[in-house]
Amino acid sequence: MSRLGKMPSWQRSFVIGGMLACSISGTLYLLGHEFQIQRAALGNHNILALHGVFAMIATLALGSVLPFHLKAGLKSKQKWLSGLSQLGFLVALLLTGALLYYGPAEMRDEVISTHWILGLLFFAIFLLHSLMRISLLPTFIAKLLRSTSVREQQALHHQRRAQYLDSPANQDPTYR
Ligand code: HEM
Ligand code: HEM
Repeated sequence: MSRLGKMPSWQRSFVIGGMLACSISGTLYLLGHEFQIQRAALGNHNILALHGVFAMIATLALGSVLPFHLKAGLKSKQKWLSGLSQLGFLVALLLTGALLYYGPAEMRDEVISTHWILGLLFFAIFLLHSLMRISLLPTFIAKLLRSTSVREQQALHHQRRAQYLDSPANQDPTYR
């Protein structure tokens, strides 16, 4: 392994797949159940059960990163903020998930809101942490700027040419 924190490919797929499945199923249930979007299709018991099962797989995936990835990631001195904060969010999601199962009924509504707000924050940070290569960002921005300036120059060139041809002095008298 050349880069500190880089995972073997089986683990990378397992962690990314498990976390995405858990986050996506949780978000679908949220849309259906809390926000009444496609309620019959998304806010039903099957989606909630799917989320519960994916949450178990995500917990297993979290367990697999604890022994090596965390230590190597910390040593690499990269992605500390996203890494540590997503770790914190996952711990809080586990605790609020446990409260959803076994907590007192009087506080269930507050726990549900806390759980899905933390869930959405975790989802965003996880995407940034695991799928975006920050080191590739400057190259991407430079390419984008270069292509924009080429397009601007081409537009200017076409505009000048159109102005030139609009002038009667520059028009071909034989052209009809
Ligand atoms: C102390 C906290 C953490 C730190 C400092 C950290 C650091 C890093 C670093 C430096 C990389 C880039 C590796 C590379 O591209 O070569 C990385 C990738 C990644 N991290 Fe973390 N991480 C932390 C916690 C976590 C946690 C808790 C998870 C799981 C939820 C996680 C999942 C991933 C995944 C899936 C990748 C992409 C793997 C790859 O490209 O090989 N990280 N992390
Ligand atoms: C590893 C992380 C997570 C764990 C361990 C976890 C765990 C759980 C558990 C145990 C439940 C209760 C299931 C049931 O009542 O049968 C639940 C419900 C729920 N989770 Fe998660 N979850 C996680 C991540 C997420 C994420 C990322 C979201 C995204 C928004 C989310 C949204 C929800 C929603 C909306 C509910 C339904 C609450 C209700 O109305 O009863 N969860 N979760």
